[in-house]
Amino acid sequence: MNISKRASNIKVSPVRKLIPYQEEAIKRGKKVYHLNIGQPDLPTPPEFTEFIVNSGEKTLSYAHSKGNLGLRLAMSKFYKENFDLDFNEEEILITAGGSEALLFVLTTIFDVDDEILLSEPYYANYNSFFEMLQIKVNAFSAKSEDGFHLPPKEEIIAKITPKTKAILLTHPGNPTGTVYTEEELKIIGDIAKEYNLYVISDEVYRLLSYDNKIATSMGSFPEYRENTIIIESISKTYSACGARIGAIVSKNKEFISQVYKLCQARLSVSTLDMIGAEGLYNTLKKDYFDGNRAIYEKRRDVIYEGLLKIDGVKVTKPEGAFYVMVTLPVDDSEKFAIWMLEYFDYEGETVMLTPAQGFYKTPDAGKQQVRISYCIEEEKIRKSLKILEEGLKKYNSK
Ligand SMILES: Cc1ncc(COP(=O)(O)O)c(C=O)c1O
Repeated sequence: MNISKRASNIKVSPVRKLIPYQEEAIKRGKKVYHLNIGQPDLPTPPEFTEFIVNSGEKTLSYAHSKGNLGLRLAMSKFYKENFDLDFNEEEILITAGGSEALLFVLTTIFDVDDEILLSEPYYANYNSFFEMLQIKVNAFSAKSEDGFHLPPKEEIIAKITPKTKAILLTHPGNPTGTVYTEEELKIIGDIAKEYNLYVISDEVYRLLSYDNKIATSMGSFPEYRENTIIIESISKTYSACGARIGAIVSKNKEFISQVYKLCQARLSVSTLDMIGAEGLYNTLKKDYFDGNRAIYEKRRDVIYEGLLKIDGVKVTKPEGAFYVMVTLPVDDSEKFAIWMLEYFDYEGETVMLTPAQGFYKTPDAGKQQVRISYCIEEEKIRKSLKILEEGLKKYNSK
C-alpha cells in the first residue's frame, strides 16, 4: 500500500538517530551521560498538578478550540508583567505545544512549493514540518565565529524570491544558544515589512538568556505587529515538556481568524494540561524564572569553560537556551558520536552527543560540529567533559 512522499521524505531527527547505539551501550553496562536532549531536568513546579487536582473536573469535556479563557488571560498577564508586551486573550490561541503551533502557523501561511527563509543551523524538527507541507527552505548561513548572529542584511535579502512567504527566527536559538540583539530583530522586521513577509518568531526559550541580557520579543515592536507571529510553549519555561501546552500569539487579526479554523478542526487541547498551565502562569513569578535561569547559566559557564580547555575544540559562548554548538577536531562528528557509544568508555562511562549535520540545509555543513545540551547537573557536566576529552584523544590516536 502507498506511503506518501510527504511522509517518506521526512528524515529521522538527528537526536533520535543515535538511540539504537545508546540502547546497545546501556545493555552492555555502560553509563551514558545525555548531552543530546533538550529536555529540562528541573522538576515541573507542583502548582501544575495541584491546580488539576483542585479543579474538580467531573467530565473531561472538550475545551474551547482557542484554549481555556482562564489560561489565555493568565498568559496575557504573564506577557504584560514579565515582558511589557500587550497581547489580549483574543490574540492568543492555545496549542498542543509549540510544535502544533508551528504546524498550524506554517499550514496557514504556506502553499506547496512556497519558500521559508531562515538562518542555518536551525532546529532540525522544522524540517519535518517543511516536508509535511512541501515548503522549500532558503537558508542563509550564520557562522560559529560570529556566535551564529545574523549575516549582513544584504545576504538575507539576496535569498528572498517571489515565493518567499515568511522568515522564521529561533530566538534564543536551538541549536546555537544565540540571543539576537534589538538591532538584529529590527533588521528582520524591516525586511519583513519591505517584502511583505511574516516573521514567525519561535521564542520558546525566551526566559533563558544569560549575562543579564534580556531576549527581546519580536512582539515588542509596534511597527511590525501585522507581520509578527510568536510561537510560545510552557515546555522549557516551566520544565513541563510532557504537558503539551503552547500557543500562537499575534496581533494580526486576519491571520488569527484563519489559523483558528485549524484549531477548530482538532477540536481542543487537553483540558487538564490547560488547567495545570493556568496554575503555573498565575502563581510563578520572577523569582522562579530567575532561579531556573541562574542554574542553567552556571551550567553554561561550566561547559563553556571546560570545552575551551580541550585540545582542538572550538566554541563560542552561548547567550541563551541550553545548547552549545561545538566544533570538534574530528573528520566526521556523526562517526565520532557513534564511536563514543559503540567503542569508547572512560571508567565505564560515555557521552551521547548530537551530530550537527542535521541542523544544516547545506550538504556537508556542520560535519565537524556537535550540539551539546546542558540539561544535566553540573557534576555530570564535569564528568562528561572529562569523558569527551579522553574520547577525543583516543579517537585521534587510532
Ligand atoms: C526551537 C524549538 N521550537 C519548538 C520546540 C517545540 O517544543 P514543544 O512542542 O515542546 O513546545 C522546541 C523543542 O525542543 C524547540 O527547541
